Amino acid sequence: NPLDYSGVWRFRELLPFAPEEMIVTVGEGQTMLRRSDSVAKYCGLNDGCLHLQYEGLNPSGSFKDNGMTAASTHARMVGAKLAACASTGNTSASLALYAGAGGHFKCVVFVGSGKIAFGKLSQALDYGAVTLQIEGDFDDALMRVREVCRDANIYLCNSVNPFRLEGQKTIIYRILEGMNWEVPDWIVVPGGNLGNSSAFGKALIELKKLNLIDRLPRLAIINAAGANTLYRLWEHDGLRWNGGEPDEELVGKFYGEMDAENRRADTLASAIQINRPVNLYKCLRALDATDGVVREAHDPEILDAKAQVGAGGFGCEPASAASVAGIKALRAQGVIAPSDRVVGILTGHELKDPDATVNYHRGDRAYANAPIPVANDAGAILDALKGVM
Ligand code: F0G
Repeated sequence: NPLDYSGVWRFRELLPFAPEEMIVTVGEGQTMLRRSDSVAKYCGLNDGCLHLQYEGLNPSGSFKDNGMTAASTHARMVGAKLAACASTGNTSASLALYAGAGGHFKCVVFVGSGKIAFGKLSQALDYGAVTLQIEGDFDDALMRVREVCRDANIYLCNSVNPFRLEGQKTIIYRILEGMNWEVPDWIVVPGGNLGNSSAFGKALIELKKLNLIDRLPRLAIINAAGANTLYRLWEHDGLRWNGGEPDEELVGKFYGEMDAENRRADTLASAIQINRPVNLYKCLRALDATDGVVREAHDPEILDAKAQVGAGGFGCEPASAASVAGIKALRAQGVIAPSDRVVGILTGHELKDPDATVNYHRGDRAYANAPIPVANDAGAILDALKGVM
């Protein structure tokens, strides 16, 4: 069965909403969990204690394909003619791929007019999506796409779409499979719109109910410091799931102040440059169920961590490295012990945002690896290689 080739649909017994003949797949989810001792050392973990789940290996280069195959399948099931999303770049690349390759519906993607990594923009254009550059940032674009989809009956593919989250649950299944179903102590994930975090929580709660695991790992969600709504609400304001009745007044007040000050999300990890995460409440449930924690990481820490991931044999985009920066911080604070078994999620491929990488390596941070200018001359080249040989 070709569905067995998909790292999402080979778990279709756990995603029972889709008739097999309706499934839209491009072979997503062929990703891998890999032990990474050099990155473990950087974080302060013992050898063998860190595994990285490399979701950049998906067809469009990010974890979004796990969710988009499910949303596209549902869009096809309901006969949608047009699908839409707002995006910091990866969701739009993924939707554009499924719309183009599947051929069941057209798509329009909304991106902010500011920072969008060129790798991602180029995908949406090349896969043939109608691409709208909305004046404003991602938070503006998301608010607008929700309004337009509601008014014009367009199928919305952001992570407010519950089928997206169903597909993203399979990341957890594959991690557990990679660990022979031995539950790790921690799963650490970057937090933007908090779709992954919410999907992970749901997956884990369900697996425990099914007796496929006997305990839950702890979830750690890492915000970029310049886009830290969850961190502030959780860590400073004490917002909690509270049995399904989180303090909405507190959240309203937070957003009220944010608007009054016109506070905008600002981070080089452009994928998670988000101030109004749509899955905020769902993610509180995940944190509650897993005894989770939330941290923030500053851009220089994120980019240092990214360089470690690169040199350790993987490579990822900046937002993905927030997970590694978060592990290092939680280790330094003693929240994670050196012998804890930790899984970090690498959400997007290295080549999504080459500008961020080259700018870092041309700069003056500790792990910068700048290109060396050298004369077109063998003697000069050998001189330059003296330190290496
Ligand atoms: N990492 C990457 C590479 C992402 O592209 C995103 C989200 C996240 C992490 C955050 O995941 O939203 O589930 O918390 N990117 C969205 C987009 C917003 O439009 O591509 P989340």
